[in-house]
Amino acid sequence: MTFGLDPDKISARFSPSIIGREIQVYRETASTNDVAMRLGRAGMAEGVVIFAESQTAGRGRLGRQWKSAAGLGLWFSVLLRPRWADFSHLSLAAAVAVARGIDPFLPERARIKWPNDIYLGEDRKTAGILCESSRDFAIVGVGLNVNHSWNDFDGEIADRATSLALVSGQHFDRNEVAASVLAEFDRIYQTLPNGFEAVVSECTERSVLLHRFVRIQSGGFSASGMVTGIDRDGGLRLRLENGFEKIVTSGEVVAMEML
Ligand code: BTN
Repeated sequence: MTFGLDPDKISARFSPSIIGREIQVYRETASTNDVAMRLGRAGMAEGVVIFAESQTAGRGRLGRQWKSAAGLGLWFSVLLRPRWADFSHLSLAAAVAVARGIDPFLPERARIKWPNDIYLGEDRKTAGILCESSRDFAIVGVGLNVNHSWNDFDGEIADRATSLALVSGQHFDRNEVAASVLAEFDRIYQTLPNGFEAVVSECTERSVLLHRFVRIQSGGFSASGMVTGIDRDGGLRLRLENGFEKIVTSGEVVAMEML
């Protein structure tokens, strides 16, 4: 049985304060982040969520493509206008929201790979987050693999990806999963910026990378060391091979055993 995305079915499952006050579902679009960006520029109020059944030009971090096949996952973007200056807090907050939102559907606790990937099983990615911002608004884009089977992943992601269905052995009504994630995001968003400390501790507690030896690539900079935690602003704490500590604020991290 397949379940189509339906804004009324998602809305009926939670009572949003901000995130999810309006929900739009497109059958197909290039990228939900682009749609949300246009709404942001047109002055739309924060909290609107744009879903697409499929995206023809879904994008990930670092210029990567994000495959967004119809009917299998949740591909959506949230328009936010945080009153505080630091939009960077949004991406860790969204990661915690996705992890909390999918936990009830899983036999295991979702883990977070800094800065904003959600991992399940044997170090496999089930969701990614792409935050983009303009002067006075931010877009949080989420791609979550829900009902994928192994055949739905091809190319280099086949060895690194998973889905809620693969980990749990069940298929899910995506409306239910969407409502659960949005409800968590709405709850967390209301606690920011004063609640960022709690977001950081939950990211640390759910961390895939904590106490692992990693290599990090960030612009022209690359380093390796042991992950010792996440700092109060959301940066990754690294003990370098020379013994110095470094806080990394962006980049691509690979745990050595994942190479
Ligand atoms: C990543 O892991 O690199 C981030 C992936 C983000 C994908 C989502 S799908 C919905 C939204 N629209 C996009 O084009 N990208 C994000």
